[in-house]
Amino acid sequence: MSGAGGASRAGWEHAATPSGADPIRLADFEALALAKLPPGTGAYYSGAANDEVTLRDNTAAFDRWRFVPRIGVEIRGRDASVDVLGRRWPSPFMVAPMALHRLADPEGELAVARACAERGLVFCLSTVGSATIEDVAATGAACWFQLYLLDDEGRNRDLLARAEASGYEALVFTMDAPILGRRERDIRTGFSLPPGVTYANIRRGALKRDDTYGDDEFKPSNTWDDLEWVVGATRLPVVVKGVLHPADAVRALDLGAAAVDVSNHGGRQLDRSIAAIDALPAVVDAVAGRAPVLLDSGVRRGTDVLAALALGARGVMLGRPVLWSLAWGREAGVARALDLLAAEVHLALGLAGLRSPAEASRELLVHAPG
Ligand SMILES: Cc1cc2nc3c(=O)[nH]c(=O)nc-3n(C[C@H](O)[C@H](O)[C@H](O)COP(=O)(O)O)c2cc1C
Repeated sequence: MSGAGGASRAGWEHAATPSGADPIRLADFEALALAKLPPGTGAYYSGAANDEVTLRDNTAAFDRWRFVPRIGVEIRGRDASVDVLGRRWPSPFMVAPMALHRLADPEGELAVARACAERGLVFCLSTVGSATIEDVAATGAACWFQLYLLDDEGRNRDLLARAEASGYEALVFTMDAPILGRRERDIRTGFSLPPGVTYANIRRGALKRDDTYGDDEFKPSNTWDDLEWVVGATRLPVVVKGVLHPADAVRALDLGAAAVDVSNHGGRQLDRSIAAIDALPAVVDAVAGRAPVLLDSGVRRGTDVLAALALGARGVMLGRPVLWSLAWGREAGVARALDLLAAEVHLALGLAGLRSPAEASRELLVHAPG
């Protein structure tokens, strides 16, 4: 991948020629995006539920881990790639499913998917995305489709059939959001969809999704029966997103899921849920190697990715920084964000004395003193 910096010493020379206020780390994109976006959109992207305790804890929890790196290792030629559900990812991350990229940029999901396609990274399209399943597939990106169940079996089948016909490689069934958390920033801004931005894959009616703007077309609870239905209704491998309890990970796999994603939805659902990275070790233990475990919520650094790998994740999903980088610099902005993270992962592996993600183990980490 172009910015991964395989041969360079620091690893990110290709990714960035920083001048002035240009972003040089993923967190930098937030302020740059918020300065450009209408306040309601910025609040919708950056906000989370209630007091946003979990939002803050997702990043703070990464900061509580410390590495115990190894020295003396030949790290030239190290390789950050991982295998996930039959595809080799060049770096151990993909783009998380997120609604409405066109609030940030007219090309929206298509711009993000193109940046992914150029790098061989997987893009996940949300049910409530603002570009069609077919148009996203046409970018050439390796795509996953994220499903929110609608309250209509025929329409759910139609979404699955379209994703399959368009060559999507996996189905992400998000189980932590049948009803929405209370996003108070959206209430304060009175957020609603601006003209010209639509839920492109849901053809009927004025679909609404939030307590500020209703959620009347979605199935208002997701049960294990629903997971069984989804597994039976698609030939794609099913990734259950939103797992925090180890017993739920086991249940999902018992019912036919091919992978689980440890996530608290970026703090947008139940506030004061456990940070994803803190939930990961028990889930990994319970899964016991039966299936890949992914993680999202709070990933901002290559060292976050490394911590997730060390605690047993196969890879991670990158969330908000993708939207912020899209808002800041369109497709080139996303490219820069993806390259920065890939370069940081490559650097972190080397500095930790690892030649590949598979060498990352719990020995690499201790809790910070105090
Ligand atoms: C604006 C926004 C929209 C989102 N939309 C969806 C969605 O449609 N489906 C879904 O499964 N998750 C959705 N998520 C959650 C992300 O997939 C992911 O879990 C979360 O962003 C991770 O937290 P982070 O971005 O702080 O790292 C959304 C997140 C944000 C910020």
